[in-house]
Amino acid sequence: MEVFRLTGPASLHGSVDVRGAKNSVLKLMAASLLAVGRTTITNVPAILDVRIMVELLGRLGCVVDYDPDAGIVGIDVPAEVGIQADYELVRAMRASISVLGPLTARMKAAHVALPGGDAIGSRGLDMHQAGLEALGATVHLEHGYFVATAQAGLRGTEIALDFPSVGATENLVMAATLARGETVISNAAKEPEIVDICTMLVEMGAKITGIGTGLITITGVDALRPVTHRTVGDRIVAGTYAFGAALSAGDVTVRGVGLELLPNVAIKLRDSGAVVDDLGDIPLADGTTGQGFRVIGTRRPRSIRVATMPFPGFPTDLQPFVIGLNSVADGVGLLSENLFEARWRFVQELARLGAKVRIDGNHALVTGVPELSGAEVEASDIRAGAGLVLAGLRATGVTEVSGIDHIERGYENFVANLRKLGAPIERVVRAEGLRFG
Ligand code: EPU
Repeated sequence: MEVFRLTGPASLHGSVDVRGAKNSVLKLMAASLLAVGRTTITNVPAILDVRIMVELLGRLGCVVDYDPDAGIVGIDVPAEVGIQADYELVRAMRASISVLGPLTARMKAAHVALPGGDAIGSRGLDMHQAGLEALGATVHLEHGYFVATAQAGLRGTEIALDFPSVGATENLVMAATLARGETVISNAAKEPEIVDICTMLVEMGAKITGIGTGLITITGVDALRPVTHRTVGDRIVAGTYAFGAALSAGDVTVRGVGLELLPNVAIKLRDSGAVVDDLGDIPLADGTTGQGFRVIGTRRPRSIRVATMPFPGFPTDLQPFVIGLNSVADGVGLLSENLFEARWRFVQELARLGAKVRIDGNHALVTGVPELSGAEVEASDIRAGAGLVLAGLRATGVTEVSGIDHIERGYENFVANLRKLGAPIERVVRAEGLRFG
């Protein structure tokens, strides 16, 4: 079994390049299905989830070439694409569900496996289904698959989301681009990744207004055209390194993401005693220009109070890093999780490092200790895994994080980047322990 082995304490110093957002690029790739011809997506991170989406689009009949070093995906979409997203792929990557809207809109039918449970809560899909039904599709569950049909094509309508769901907003906006007439989505999600997808759809010829607001209006068109689009930077990866600096008394410059994508995060980092500087436009590794910022942590951070919220609130995906920071901070910190009901498996692992965390409903109350103590821990999801690695920076001795495939789903070059920032971390093979049977 491969694990990440880190010897602490250590702090992060230097600069790190962050490429495009996982949670944008996967949907941009799904959106390519809406147009016949070759779509090119740039600033693509080299992560496992992109490979899974490449596989899914290939199985749908697209010819996909992916250059992870250059960060470019080219997708040739034929006139007739397949309509089935297999369970094997949807189970491996929940974001596969984002082909449901594009396939229903363009092929008038889709068979997409239901993802089932995962480590961070039940994550329903009722709004995806109800929205497509409002657009005129029939959607039912058959043998574990969503079966959507819209033989007469989709038609515009008014959709009021119960909650600003990222995935439902994306699926419904994509579907509505090819519906007849006008669709108005209220209580829509406003995440930068939604803005990115809407921007690409507009470049493709879609008519969308209210992008980045809670009220998105889409006027359907007959067809979209393929384009070349650059993925927005990954604010969650950027936030991960920012917390790494704050938690480890480090000094890290993040290139490729601007602070305007992390409004609440910068405020909370400053509350912890860190200095956060907006660097504005700076040169990026790929020769282009993009935004950047710098975070300088204090020797012992102050504990912070954070409530996760849809954008522009504090992102749930940075929750493990807040708990990690609070676990070594001065004072008692609070994290209230308002999006996912079961994002606490991370906490049990953090406790193995000596963190003092009490869970009460959706609140994590953390009493900071001066230092953690290295141990073997297991990642249960992408962010939990990265959170355990960062906590290991403040733990004396060796911390070994298993379940690293979770981390590699969303972080490119994680070990190489942390090593570049001065962390003594390596990827090693750990001998399997007990064997039964
Ligand atoms: N929800 C429903 N019904 C629905 C849709 C959502 O009840 O039809 C609930 C979910 O159960 C959850 C809440 O609404 O409690 C938020 O879910 P949302 O749909 O907004 O999230 P998502 O689209 O499933 C994306 C990201 C997540 C990120 C969330 C919130 C992708 C692939 N995933 O998930 O990212 O946490 O938005 O910002 O875009 C990650 O990257 O590690 C990750 C989990």
